Amino acid sequence: MSNNRQNWNSKLGFILAASGSAIGLGNIVFFSSNAYQYGGGAFYLPYFIALFVLGLPIMMLEFGIGTMTGKSFPMALSQLAGKRAEFAGWWSVMSAMFITAYYVAILGWAFGMMVGSFGSLFEPGITAPFTPFEAPQPSPSAMVYFFHLIATWWPVIFIFVIWGLNLLILQRGTESIERAVRIFVPLMWVFMIGLVIKGLTLDGGFDGIMYLFTPDLEGISEAGVWRGAFSQMFFSLSLGLGTMTAYASYLPKDADQINNSFLVSFLNCSFEFIAGLAIFSLLFVFALNPAGSTLSLSFFVIPQGINELSSSPWIVRLFGFLFFFLIVIAGLTSSISLIEGPASALMDKLKISRKRALALVAIPCMIGSVLCTLPIIVDKGLSGNGTLGLSILDITDHWVFSYSLLIVGFMEAIAIGWVLGADKLRLALNKHSKWNIGPWFNIFIKFVVPGILLTVIGTSLWSEREGLYGANVDMGSFNWLPIFIPIFWLLISLGVAFYLTSRPNPEEA
Ligand code: PHE
Repeated sequence: MSNNRQNWNSKLGFILAASGSAIGLGNIVFFSSNAYQYGGGAFYLPYFIALFVLGLPIMMLEFGIGTMTGKSFPMALSQLAGKRAEFAGWWSVMSAMFITAYYVAILGWAFGMMVGSFGSLFEPGITAPFTPFEAPQPSPSAMVYFFHLIATWWPVIFIFVIWGLNLLILQRGTESIERAVRIFVPLMWVFMIGLVIKGLTLDGGFDGIMYLFTPDLEGISEAGVWRGAFSQMFFSLSLGLGTMTAYASYLPKDADQINNSFLVSFLNCSFEFIAGLAIFSLLFVFALNPAGSTLSLSFFVIPQGINELSSSPWIVRLFGFLFFFLIVIAGLTSSISLIEGPASALMDKLKISRKRALALVAIPCMIGSVLCTLPIIVDKGLSGNGTLGLSILDITDHWVFSYSLLIVGFMEAIAIGWVLGADKLRLALNKHSKWNIGPWFNIFIKFVVPGILLTVIGTSLWSEREGLYGANVDMGSFNWLPIFIPIFWLLISLGVAFYLTSRPNPEEA
């Protein structure tokens, strides 16, 4: 069935694409804000433990089932572990679509900030006092600029630019993806290394690093830190959304997936590590205080630091531009993979053309992106997220990010560990690998990974009892959103997953 599927041109192409998927907003925007929120030094140890006990085994699993079957996630699960596992696969595809919608919206804002670097974002002068949603004059702080930007319709135009780029890169599948990642992935490394050198050579840059690396034993004992680290690792490695299986399915059957898993995880985590160094050195040099939402650190705290990097306005602008350009290209190599996962799943299941599959994924996701950038102001005092778009984004992210990935991770570990049998996967992985994995792998897939995921999901659910997420902010006539969004997400994801699973697979038709 899979004889007309594409292949990567080279192993390098695959490694660039998979590491490009892993390295994205998660490594720059979310990692730094999580590390800050959970107290720097308290975050690193749980984070590294998460890599070994959760990240690597699941990446081997997702890569492994891709090459074993030559199919994308739901079809691979279906072939190896039956219809119930296929259902988990479609649920992950739906989650990937929800995440794509708001991921692209964030990229649209980053694009807006990038353009603004040469507009009034870094206009020299005194920093204006913070007045949300006021026009940025006479000389704006990055925060004012950001809120002014998201209260205009410009981001809606920008998301169409980002969507256009995504579809352009995806139109010829692996061939065009490979061409794009060959340019973007090395480029983002160069920019990030440049940024870290600049940060570390500033007076006081090392203080930030000390903050990051001073172990905080008290912090480590908090459950929230572990939950944060485990979810961060999952998202950062692009797991639980079927992406890595789709990419791996375009590899030849004899690919060494143990080696690939180590390589991609290593590239991702070292990028994240370097990004942490760069961001924390800037934070400490300029004594910035990243209070506020997840986006605040990268979208207005760091730009404020960049503003003070040099007395030459052109150098400041150039740095600001490069910082947001870096976010845009890192995000783009991830968003293409977020879209490719669902598209390749639909091509496999429904035997439709790439064009059609891309349209089926892109149209609903684009509508979602527009909703996330709606500039209607719902709480002017900024007790919540300010605009309708950002509120929708935040509530959706809360549910999909905290639950979908981890629930899918749990289900795939059960399906492969228990239904197929972890040993079958282990032997298949070992068959083509220089480095063999021992029976410990079975214990991880069958017990450790599901155990950890269940604990994380359980404690997250437990913390929901403190009140419905987002309901504490008065959004006037939009007060129904905090209840509507989780119900909508569940009904649509489960409904579509159910429908697609119940359709016959092409082999059986
Ligand atoms: N790993 C990407 C990031 O860090 C996000 C992503 C998650 C992409 C899942 C694809 C699949 O930004």
